[in-house]
Amino acid sequence: DKAGYKHFMAKEIAEQPTVLADALRGYLDGDTISLPGEPLDFTKIERLTLVACGTAFYACLTAKYWFEQLAGLPVEVDVASEFRYREPPITAHTVALFVSQSGETADTLAALRYCKDKADKIVSVVNVAESSIARESDLALPIHAGVEVGVASTKAFTCQLNVLLLLALKAAVDRGRMTPEALAETLASLRALPGVLNAAMDRSDDINQAARQIAEARDVLFLGRGLMYPLALEGALKLKEISYIHAEAYASGELKHGPIALIDKSVPVVVMAPRDALFDKTVSNMQEVLARGGKVLLITDAAGAAEAGQDVWKTIILPEVPSILSPLLYAIPAQLLAYHTAIAKGTDVDQPRNLAKSVTVE
Ligand code: F6R
Repeated sequence: DKAGYKHFMAKEIAEQPTVLADALRGYLDGDTISLPGEPLDFTKIERLTLVACGTAFYACLTAKYWFEQLAGLPVEVDVASEFRYREPPITAHTVALFVSQSGETADTLAALRYCKDKADKIVSVVNVAESSIARESDLALPIHAGVEVGVASTKAFTCQLNVLLLLALKAAVDRGRMTPEALAETLASLRALPGVLNAAMDRSDDINQAARQIAEARDVLFLGRGLMYPLALEGALKLKEISYIHAEAYASGELKHGPIALIDKSVPVVVMAPRDALFDKTVSNMQEVLARGGKVLLITDAAGAAEAGQDVWKTIILPEVPSILSPLLYAIPAQLLAYHTAIAKGTDVDQPRNLAKSVTVE
């Protein structure tokens, strides 16, 4: 049931504030993070190995920044189809964590089985609680996104981010890197996030205007730095999946190491950059694009927009949030941009060609 929306994808994008609020409640006991099932004590863990495919992999890549910065925990992250064949050594006190919406992705499941007798614990972050990946884990953490019908993952991505962030915050507290007061403050911001996401949904018309022109492009680049780098990758994946436009993402700092050769006035460049500690660096990369005639769509906050200068083609202004929460917020314009671009092109957003919701072949 599309509940009055034209597409499941539109419905699932719009549902995110509500499902995230519910999902958060499932993991909090007052201002304490409480995981269902087996306890997970991060003081005994020396390394995390995160494995997934596609959008779930980008959630893992985001989580790497969180676990490393907040908890000082070394993290390895890989796509399942590479991880499993490389036969990576699993060192002592490693927890292997698998992220999968369906819980049935063949490569992710095979990677999990590879880790079974090697890792201290197998943890999964899943949407389908009865899935193979959930069943074969020591601890399966539900993302509580509800059924996701659209082939392009939207609410599952933000709900995966939500659980991974809570895990990273728990790791930070367990490992003495974060005080209970600092945790309480972050949790307060997380509780306020649904309202902020609704404000981001209100940018839909602005994004639609940009999308009408992006729909004319043959190639689109996405740039981001730090936590915005995995988001840029996710934005590019979403756009190519449903609009069939060639899109690629780079870490902003990599631009001058090759991809800048692609820039000309026909290539829109989507820059995702809240006004955070890395903003100036990203803006200088953006200037390099502008100097070569590139057409920049800047997704930022009010402070970022004020500092970015006049030459950008379009600016989408989002509310300000604490830096670590920015991936959950910036996912919304990334999804809306792909959605509106696909609508402008007239493609089948819920059932894009060549794709299946659950990839059970290797
Ligand atoms: C992207 C998308 C895919 C999946 C990937 C993993 O929109 O849906 O990239 O994220 O196939 O699927 P799960 O999470 O079910 O393991």
